[in-house]
Amino acid sequence: MTKEETWSQRFESALHPAIARFNASIGFDIELIEYDLTGSQAHVKMLAHTGIISLEEGDKLVAGLEKIRQEYREGKFQPGVDAEDVHFAVERRLTEIVGDVGKKVHTARSRNDQVGTDTRLYLRDQIQQIKNELREFQGVLLDIAEKNVETLIPGYTHLQRAQPLSLAHHLLAYFQMAQRDWERLGDVSRRVNISPLGCGALAGTTFPIDRHYTAKLLNFDDIYANSLDGVSDRDFAIEFLCAASLIMVHLSRLAEEVILWSSEEFRFVTLKDSCATGSSIMPQKKNPDVPELVRGKTGRVFGHLQAMLVIMKGLPLAYNKDLQEDKEGLFDSVNTIKASLEAMTILLREGLEFRTQRLAEAVAEDFSNATDVADYLAARGVPFREAYNLVGKVVKTSIAAGKLLKDLKLQEWQQLHPAFAADIYEAISPRQVVAARNSYGGTGFVQVRKALIAARAQLAQ
Ligand code: ARG
Repeated sequence: MTKEETWSQRFESALHPAIARFNASIGFDIELIEYDLTGSQAHVKMLAHTGIISLEEGDKLVAGLEKIRQEYREGKFQPGVDAEDVHFAVERRLTEIVGDVGKKVHTARSRNDQVGTDTRLYLRDQIQQIKNELREFQGVLLDIAEKNVETLIPGYTHLQRAQPLSLAHHLLAYFQMAQRDWERLGDVSRRVNISPLGCGALAGTTFPIDRHYTAKLLNFDDIYANSLDGVSDRDFAIEFLCAASLIMVHLSRLAEEVILWSSEEFRFVTLKDSCATGSSIMPQKKNPDVPELVRGKTGRVFGHLQAMLVIMKGLPLAYNKDLQEDKEGLFDSVNTIKASLEAMTILLREGLEFRTQRLAEAVAEDFSNATDVADYLAARGVPFREAYNLVGKVVKTSIAAGKLLKDLKLQEWQQLHPAFAADIYEAISPRQVVAARNSYGGTGFVQVRKALIAARAQLAQ
């Protein structure tokens, strides 16, 4: 059928050309073509299996669909707006290839269950690819972490120096976020992988189809129990967009840290030339475009989630053309996530150098060991709040005198409280401050080494 003709005998005239363009989804749903072909092949096999068409007709249709796949891959199949959407484009070409039997492909099916099937097959594939990319990203985080257990980095709360950390511990926090992302995609997959094929336009079909048969051929885990729900449910897409948004949140947080770290104010990392850009006017500049773009692209994924929620909220059952709007945001989110994950993985792997000397100086130059002085006294019987107040006083007088805690003489410590002894200096050294946080999940080196082993095991799952 071509849309230059009338829709059917019911119509008197063809579509206005502008309306045809407005209506068409072929410009973007061509992305689904391979899934559409696979879905249609399963459908005609089922039609033949159940005797709705003959085995011979089934074979012809399967082969014709395969021919279209080949033509598409060779760049020879490029349907235009006159085809309206990928489903019509395939049916029309199929009929050209196999003759009148091509007109049987749409028996016992509607584009409504068809497009739902295609979109799920597409998303199932893409989720697997994103999961693989997440694994690579996690692997690089882990590689860097393993080399930097003893590299110290300032830890912050409120973006104020708080307590020093093992750099590995800091990176493992992102590993854990990515681990949840990976698991979340697995959860989403379970609801993506349900077949609506055979739900028909909305109410099922008069033909003796076998929905389990097509589901099995297409590796779906289950089939929709209700035909109305099957053709109009987009929860799976919304769930994916939620998971996608969280992935972007995590990438964007890391991106933001890299941007801060590479600034002259922090100087914690150097960006390598392969992953940084210059300025067209300021010759001294080296800009962190990669993390900035990742941070920026986060917005569009959130936007697609919001758009999909709004598309769905007022839709009466069952299919409405509004649902055609589900695709571009979904495709763009998938592409954005894949590109962002790839870029961040490359940036970590080869675009970033931690300035360990500068990091060592940074953790030695501040009062981020103050908690440890209070803990020192508390461990020697002084109530913590009392110790906290004493140390607050020392910090104040030290700042006024332009000194750090390590510069105080033992005599000064003992004037403050008699419990202080010579081992206070060791207790407040950055290395010891980190090592001492040996509680489960803490930054102490022993804990971090255990966490690295556990992370390696998670990665191998
Ligand atoms: N191109 C349409 C979409 O993406 C396919 C389904 C059309 N169904 C219909 N009843 N007009 O949603």
